[in-house]
This record gives sequence, structure tokens and C-alpha cells, in this order.
Amino acid sequence: MDTPTDQSILVTGGAGFIGSHLVETLVSDNDVVVLDNLSSGRREWVDDRATLTEADIQDTQAVSQAVDGVDLIFHEAANVSVEYSVDAPVESHKTNVDATIRLLEHAREEDARFIYASSAAIYGTPESVPIDEADSKKPTSPYGLEKHTADEYCRLYHELYSVETVALRYFNVYGPRQRGGQYSGVIDIFLDQARRGEDITVHGDGEQTRDFVHVDDVVAANCLAATHGTPGKAYNVGTGNSITIKDLAQLVKDTFETTSAVTRVDARDGDIEQSCPSIQKAQRELGFEPSRSLDNELESLW
Ligand code: UD1
Repeated sequence: MDTPTDQSILVTGGAGFIGSHLVETLVSDNDVVVLDNLSSGRREWVDDRATLTEADIQDTQAVSQAVDGVDLIFHEAANVSVEYSVDAPVESHKTNVDATIRLLEHAREEDARFIYASSAAIYGTPESVPIDEADSKKPTSPYGLEKHTADEYCRLYHELYSVETVALRYFNVYGPRQRGGQYSGVIDIFLDQARRGEDITVHGDGEQTRDFVHVDDVVAANCLAATHGTPGKAYNVGTGNSITIKDLAQLVKDTFETTSAVTRVDARDGDIEQSCPSIQKAQRELGFEPSRSLDNELESLW
């Protein structure tokens, strides 16, 4: 894998699900600083060789100190839940948009490359699938709009100030350490329900699709974006294959032979229907190749 070397790197959200895996990959060949408020991340997930600053991404003083002298920033800290953003749009905006612009300002001052954790949620209701990076953006939730806004700021900071920004539009990331309580990702929730023998709760008719991409592949995409990504550009990061949530529920039930029943509950406000990317641009320009498939990985998450 092409990985940055000999750099001074800030990973925001570096104690969290995606960030902590990224730090593990970066830390052997770089100086890594982690900024994380430990709201969903954990201290013990941060590799000992990295320096952890426990602070919120909105703490301007802590951010200024953490970013001092860095060459490269991976911005993973965010509210990651669509549902939370519907419940608390103002708070979610502060975290996902305001804090991101301030960090972009630091990238500009430090002349640092900036790799942004954008999201498939920016596309909202797609006109067609698979979704191409240039396709229309019609977010259906505050979260989607926030990520779209910050993704656009990345492009603008490149065009206006020549900051080397790259936005990675993650589809649905899964893997070890995905924990978020009521706002966690669906795989974590379904596995938890199956373990307890509780009903597996499918929101709506279950026909909505998602592309589940393993966190190791997302780490690889980040390293490639840092080394090969074209500044000012955005790339879809998924596997190119999606599954309905109804089928995911059945897959969990069958894989673990649980006594849980699959039940339907109310559809979620702000939920997107179709989510299936074209990953050709990332394959062509970054050399990205997803190496793991959900069918093979599910058992190891149990
Ligand atoms: C997820 C990520 C988001 C990312 C986006 C990219 C989380 C919490 N959210 O949002 O950060 O930017 O993908 O596409 O990881 N569902 C059920 N039953 C449940 C829980 C969820 O049916 O108990 C359904 C939801 O209604 C939704 C699907 O599963 O249709 C996925 O939900 P979720 O895992 O929360 O992710 P997204 O909303 O897609």
C-alpha cells in the first residue's frame, strides 16, 4: 500500500472507528497527533506511538495547538449519524461544517494537505445508479447537506487558496470498533440485536440499498488520497456493490443462526433510498481496489 512517510500528521477523530485504524497504519513511519473528544472513540484504540489530545473539534485553542507545524491533516472527526442530525441539526452543523472550515483555514496557514471524510449522503436521492462523483447532489438530511457543504468547501479552498484538499466520499463503512450506541451503523446494531436474540429492526420496507465497505479499505483509500489524489477532487469510496437492508438483516440472521426475528419498524426521516457508487474514478486515479467483501467479513465481526 502507498502510505505517507516522514510527515507530521494530524488525525482528527483519531480515537474513533475509522480514525484509529488510520492512525495504526500511519504511525510507524510518521509523527502522528490525534485530536479526539472521546465521545465515541476510546483512548485504548489510539496507538501508543501517537500523541493524543483529548479535546473537541470545536475547541479552537486545542485545534490550533494540535495543527501547529503539520504537513498533512486527515479530518475524520464528525457527527456521523444521519439520525442525530435530524434530531439536532444546529449542533450537527457546528461540528460538521463550522469546525471543518476552521480546520481548512489552518490547513491554509500551515500549507498542509487536507484529506476530508465526506459521505455518500451528499447525493441524497440519486437520478440513477451507480452514482458518479459528478452526479446531482440532493441531500435528504441535515447530515447530507453538512457533508455536501464541507465537501464543496474543500474544492473551493483548493481553487481559491491552492490548499491541497481531497474529499473521500465514504459509502457505508463497517468493521471492528464500530460502536455508537443508538446512533451506530446498521451492521453494529443488527449484530447486537442478533447476539441478544432481540428482533432485528428494519426501518421502512427494507428495500433501501447500501454499499458496505470495510474500514481497512477506507484506510487504504485515505493513504492513496494523501499520496496520489488530485488536489481539489473528490472520490467515491465503496466496493461498487450494494445490498438491500432487508437482505442484510436476513444475511445476519442466516450467518449467525440467531433466534431473532426480522421485523419492520417506521422508516427513518432523512434516510436515502438508493446508494450504490461507481468507484471507477478512485480505481483509475488513486489505484484504489477494495479487497474485502461483506459476505466474507461478517463472521469475523461477531
Ligand atoms: C451511514 C453512516 C454515515 C455515512 C453514510 C454514507 C453511520 C452511523 N452512518 O449513514 O456516517 O456518511 O452511511 O452512506 O455509520 N437501519 C435499519 N435498522 C436499524 C438501523 C438502521 O433498518 O436498526 C437502516 C437505516 O434506516 C438505513 C440503513 O439501515 O436505511 C443504514 O443506516 P445507518 O447504518 O445508520 O447508515 P446511513 O444512514 O446510511
